[in-house]
Amino acid sequence: MTRVFSGVKPTGHLTLGNYLGAIRRWADVDQRQSDALFCVVDLHALTVDHDPARVRRLTRQAATLLLAAGLDPELCTVFVQSHVDEHTRLSYVMECVATDGEMRRMIQYKEKAERERARGGSVRLSLLTYPVLMAADILAYGTDEVPVGDDQTQHVELARDLAVRFNQRYGHTFVVPRATRPGVAARVMNLQEPTSKMGKSDDSGPGIVYLLDEPDVVRKKVMRAVTDSGAEVVYDREERPGVANLLEILAACGGGNPEDLSGVYESYGALKKDTAEAVVELLRPVQERHKALCADPAYVEGVLRDGAERARGMAKPMVDTAYRAIGLLPA
Ligand code: TYM
Repeated sequence: MTRVFSGVKPTGHLTLGNYLGAIRRWADVDQRQSDALFCVVDLHALTVDHDPARVRRLTRQAATLLLAAGLDPELCTVFVQSHVDEHTRLSYVMECVATDGEMRRMIQYKEKAERERARGGSVRLSLLTYPVLMAADILAYGTDEVPVGDDQTQHVELARDLAVRFNQRYGHTFVVPRATRPGVAARVMNLQEPTSKMGKSDDSGPGIVYLLDEPDVVRKKVMRAVTDSGAEVVYDREERPGVANLLEILAACGGGNPEDLSGVYESYGALKKDTAEAVVELLRPVQERHKALCADPAYVEGVLRDGAERARGMAKPMVDTAYRAIGLLPA
C-alpha cells in the first residue's frame, strides 16, 4: 500500500489555500487509497517569532479542523509532530547529510529570513534547518507520496535528494518520496494581491479566506477581491491573475475547469457572486463539524494520543535503522 505523509504548520488560522491545495485531497482521496499519516507540525511553528499560548491554541485548532475536514482516524493516522520524538531524532542525522549551501538556497528560507530582518528581528537557526526537519518528517515513515500545494515542491525535492544521498553513502534505508499536487488550486492566491500566495501567516486579512470565516465574511472578502483592468472574463494567470484566481477557486469548489468556466461569465460581478457562494457552501459542512468537535475536546485529544502512538510505532524502526546505518552504536 502506498504510504502517504503530509503536514500543516500551526502558524496561523487555516486558509482556503490550505484546504484546496492540500487538506481536502487528504480527506477525499489520500486517506481512502493509502496508508496515510497527517500531522500538525508544531515544531515548525517555532522557527519564527511566536507566542507559546497561540501556537498551542492553533495546534489544537488545526487538529480539530483536520478531523472536521473529514480525516477519519479509522482510516488514517492524525497526530502532532512534537508528540513523536522520532522526527527530531532523525532530523539531526539528516543535518549530517544536508549542506548549509542547500539550506541557504531554499526560497522560503530566503523570503522568510528577509521578512524577519526587515522587521528588525533576528533569524532563528531553526528557520535555516527547517527543510531538514521536514525531510525527516517525511522519511521517518517510508513515505511514497507527499500531497502538498505548489509552494512545498522545493522542500519535497530536498527530501528526495537527502534520501538518495543517504542511501548511496550508508546503504539503502529510505524510500525516495515524491510530491503530488492538485490539478487546480495548487496555489491559491491572495484576493487582495493576486500575485502572492494566500498564506496563513500573512497580515493581509481581507485577502485571505480562513476556513472558520463566517459566511458573510467570506462573501465580503470574495466580492472585494482585486480584479484586473478590462471587463472580459478570461483565464490567464499571467495577464489576469485576479480573475484567474477566482476562476480557479470556483473550479476547485465545483470540480470544473477554469478555462471552461471563463466562457460562462460575462461580468466580474457575476463571477465573484458565484465564487463567494461556492466557497460558503464548501466550508459550511467543515464549519459545522468543527463546531461539534469543539464541544468534545476529549475526543480530539484521544485521537491525537492514539495517532501519536501509532506514528511512533511506524517511525521508530526506520529511525533506528538510519542510526545504525550512519554509524551510531545501538543502545
Ligand atoms: P503549510 O502549513 O504552509 O501548508 C499546509 C499545506 O497547504 C498548502 N498550501 C496551499 N496550497 C494552495 N494554495 C495556497 N495558497 C496554499 N497555502 C498552503 C501547502 O502547500 C501545504 O501542502 N512546510 C509545510 C509543512 C510541513 C510538511 C512536512 C508538509 C512540515 N513537514 C512534511 C508535508 C510533509 C508547510 O509549511 O505547510
